[in-house]
Amino acid sequence: MTKGKFITLEGMDGAGKSTHVAWIPAFLQARGVKVCLTREPGGTPVGERLRELMLDKAQKLHAETEALLMFAARREHLDKVILPALDAGSWVVCDRFTDATFAYQSGGSGLPWERIAALEAWVQGDLQPDLTLYFDVPSEVGKARTQAVREPDRFELEGRAFFDRVREGYLRRAHDDMRRMRIIDGTAALAEVKQSVENIILSNCF
Ligand code: TYD
Repeated sequence: MTKGKFITLEGMDGAGKSTHVAWIPAFLQARGVKVCLTREPGGTPVGERLRELMLDKAQKLHAETEALLMFAARREHLDKVILPALDAGSWVVCDRFTDATFAYQSGGSGLPWERIAALEAWVQGDLQPDLTLYFDVPSEVGKARTQAVREPDRFELEGRAFFDRVREGYLRRAHDDMRRMRIIDGTAALAEVKQSVENIILSNCF
């Protein structure tokens, strides 16, 4: 058992996770919680370098290479950032974690689900987030939102069918662990989504 709580945010590109990760730390701090905000892929110097490689449009990595690099970065992230922060009593808010590898590298890219599960067991043992906020949107909503605001990274260049499979991967994870992973309707009005997130955090973490 760690002292702090581990909260992750998930959703396909354009689901709204970045909007909500921006206010959650202050919401927790206002309730006396020390917060470590971090992200995947990334979160450590090595992880950020791996992130650059993985999001580089000039590289087309084999899906297995991608999954292995995600977990290599994650191992480093757990060792250098996440576990020390939790042990010190901070809460960790992480923008994406292992559910994204199931959704993107298995759902989206088609790697066997069990392969990812084996890497998860190897790298994490029993460790799971205390709470995962999954922002659920159909692929056409995600696509429309990312196209409106930025140049796509390598994953965002993928088509609708890829993101339909990403969504199925996330929903499978959510149905496998409904206590941890909460499905939030990301198509609702922003104020409504924010209210749901606040309610979920308050009733699950305090
Ligand atoms: P994202 O978190 O959406 O960052 P930004 O807000 O800067 O776009 O981008 C990270 C991308 O990496 C996203 O498209 C999903 C992908 N990804 C995976 O494919 N597998 C993983 O395990 C993780 C953590 C991310």
